[in-house]
Amino acid sequence: MTDPAADLVVTNASQVLTMVPASAGEHPGLGIVLEGAVAARAGRVLWVGPASNAGSVPALDSTVWIDARGGVVTPGLIDPHTHAVFAGSRHEEYEARLAGRPYLEILAAGGGILSTVRATRAASDRELVELTRARLDRMLALGVTTAELKSGYGLGVEAELRLLRIAREAGAAHPIRVVTTLLGAHALPDEHRHDRAGYVRLVIDEMIPEAARQGLADACDVYLERAAFSLDEARAILLAARKAGLGTKLHAGQFNDLGGGELAAELGALSADHLEELGDEGLRAMVAAGVVGVLLPGAALSLRGRFPDARRLLDAGLRVALATDCNPGTSHTENLPLMATLAVSQMGMTIDEALVGVTASAARALGLDDAGAIAPGHRADLTVWDVPDFRCLVYHFGVPHAARVIAGGRVVWPS
Ligand code: NIG
Ligand code: FE
Repeated sequence: MTDPAADLVVTNASQVLTMVPASAGEHPGLGIVLEGAVAARAGRVLWVGPASNAGSVPALDSTVWIDARGGVVTPGLIDPHTHAVFAGSRHEEYEARLAGRPYLEILAAGGGILSTVRATRAASDRELVELTRARLDRMLALGVTTAELKSGYGLGVEAELRLLRIAREAGAAHPIRVVTTLLGAHALPDEHRHDRAGYVRLVIDEMIPEAARQGLADACDVYLERAAFSLDEARAILLAARKAGLGTKLHAGQFNDLGGGELAAELGALSADHLEELGDEGLRAMVAAGVVGVLLPGAALSLRGRFPDARRLLDAGLRVALATDCNPGTSHTENLPLMATLAVSQMGMTIDEALVGVTASAARALGLDDAGAIAPGHRADLTVWDVPDFRCLVYHFGVPHAARVIAGGRVVWPS
């Protein structure tokens, strides 16, 4: 049998970060191949190694050759936590928060998340698809090839299913691979102000089974927080999600430690996200259960609050991923590389840990085993960066460095 031929080869990279941990050498967590190349076929990685050996990989006349021009190649970045399906803008609230008004007080008074719910419900499907697509475009230009999109600004059965449908639709027409999460328990909608139990039942009895039946959600999330949902409510909702075959996730410890780490461990959740406030018990439980901690530096930046202590979490053995939390309230950004810079600057992470956090660990947080690393059989999702060394991705911050983005073995950016 002859070896299969490559239909795409990326050569001339000063460094290929495979994210397959090496047993020796510098930066072992990054699995670096110096002067490297990557070959792909039919959307999957076929081979990765020194460019000098790339000649041994069979090619065709039609093979697409990409010259990385001495830049760096990484797996396409993965943003494992966004709320990118929404309409409206909360710049006035942002200004009020800068003047000292607390986020949870604004929410309790019917603003915050609920003001985005009003704007999102009022927007047409078409408008929402366009807004979401534009956000995906901005992510792609920054080197992202997979993003998780949550619902959560509908807060009714049909309204939440609609947002999941829109997330799927925006993803189907876009090179970014979209993973969807039902966040029906994001806030208590106005209509249920005096009927918490009724709303929780609606999420459990109707929203989750319908989202699962229609194949609209990959996972389910709950905002566990004062002014949002309690520990018992979160447990009941996520147990129903698990029963329906959905992955489970939790917004935990953003402002108060309400036991989210322990609950995520008890449920075998994919991830617990935020973790600005997380006690030792919750941390130990998450480590033992293999739950990923997804940290959201953009929220701490925008809220001018406490950054999560990533160093403490990593030193305890927690697997840590990073995400933008892209949302109109607490983190209005699509810039995932910037999150890596904030993580090293404000959260005690090393550059290596931050880069693993936006690739391999981010894939784990989404339950994906074919993304976040450059290895044979993985999806050929690759970003070619116009930087001389991988450290520059974090060190030279806030500006776009992606030169080419490849998704599923095709060059998708610039298009
Ligand atoms: O992760 N905290 C809850 N959800 C988002 C904020 C959403 C909003 O304010 O609209 C978050 O920070
Ligand atoms: Fe969030």
